[in-house]
Amino acid sequence: MSFLRMDELDLKGKRVMIREDFNVPLDAGRVTSDARLRAALPTIRMALDRGAAVILLSHLGRPVEGQYDEQFSLKPVAEHLSGLLDHPVTLQKDWLNGFDIQAGEIVLCENVRFNPGEKSNDAKLAKTMAGLCDVFVMDAFGTSHRAHASTEGVIHHAPVACAGPLLSRELYELEKALTEPERPMLAIVGGSKVSTKLTVLESLMTRVDELIVGGGIANTFIAASGYNVGQSLYEPDLLDEAQRLIRMAHKKGGEIPIPKDVVVAKSFSKDAEAWVRSVDEVQDDELILDIGPLTAVDYAAMIQEAGTVIWNGPVGVFEFPNFAAGTRAIADAIEISNAFSIAGGGDTLAAIDQFNIADGVSYISTGGGAFLEFVEGKTLPAVAALEARYKP
Ligand code: 3PG
Ligand code: MG
Repeated sequence: MSFLRMDELDLKGKRVMIREDFNVPLDAGRVTSDARLRAALPTIRMALDRGAAVILLSHLGRPVEGQYDEQFSLKPVAEHLSGLLDHPVTLQKDWLNGFDIQAGEIVLCENVRFNPGEKSNDAKLAKTMAGLCDVFVMDAFGTSHRAHASTEGVIHHAPVACAGPLLSRELYELEKALTEPERPMLAIVGGSKVSTKLTVLESLMTRVDELIVGGGIANTFIAASGYNVGQSLYEPDLLDEAQRLIRMAHKKGGEIPIPKDVVVAKSFSKDAEAWVRSVDEVQDDELILDIGPLTAVDYAAMIQEAGTVIWNGPVGVFEFPNFAAGTRAIADAIEISNAFSIAGGGDTLAAIDQFNIADGVSYISTGGGAFLEFVEGKTLPAVAALEARYKP
């Protein structure tokens, strides 16, 4: 991948606009997980150290375009970021018509998704943004799979457009992990639906040796193997697809294992009572909410034997203490394993935080959807735009 990089540029006295992915979870106006903010700090500090006037852009959530809505305001992000940087961060509510900024200052522009035309990648909007800066830096790896005005369009119009250090590092680490991986290569993909991850599962099957599925996805595979899943979340329309993927794995000499045992409950709630069942004993009124202890041991052993582990998605409802053991076992196994491990996705990052294993993961990506699209081998539009502008 060839593109211009921020660290190659003279930024002194320049208006440097950095597209970040500050799409972080909030609760009552406070940032509850600041991993994405912390990941952006080296880039922001580098721009400041080099004498730039720093303009930050980000989206937050999915607000209705053209409508200001306080619950999607970046105000809590500006406050939190200012604390992390120990430097004032001014939130600029109306910014498309321009604003004053001096070298050494940081302005965070209000949520880009309040602007009509952001998601449709409107060229006029992209040009307006481009006109506010001397250098545009794309550093939002987590949003690089979106061809939006502030992620893709602006790259075509900015006086200079380059990749920031976070984006460059994400692409480098993920590519390294995927091109010549240590074998066996194991992917763990959780999530609620096979349908939203079907292409991911398919393309992973062509790359990896083993695939562990978790959550609602696993329920569909359990049902496809002929077991009763009771009231569990699963997709009856995708049983054939699940069987096809299982056959695909066998053809390659690998497997998509079906859990031996599961943890069930009679309702989806935090305090629901939990029972361990053999996979062939799930009752009609029960929901599968986690893998069972025997399965957890099997999966941990697979992780120990792997050379590379890709982790996206928990295997159970780890937010509920009674159904957290399976995901904890996966997390602990990854922590102690010598495999090169890469993890991405919001739930996965939350699990890594909850089980405190970040130091045992080789590379933690800030991307969710972007991480998966990269793993699938899809082109990330923002990266393609940077490559298209590159003239060595
Ligand atoms: C993410 O959280 O995955 C990114 O910030 C992209 O957000 P989006 O799915 O709303 O485009
Ligand atoms: Mg490890």
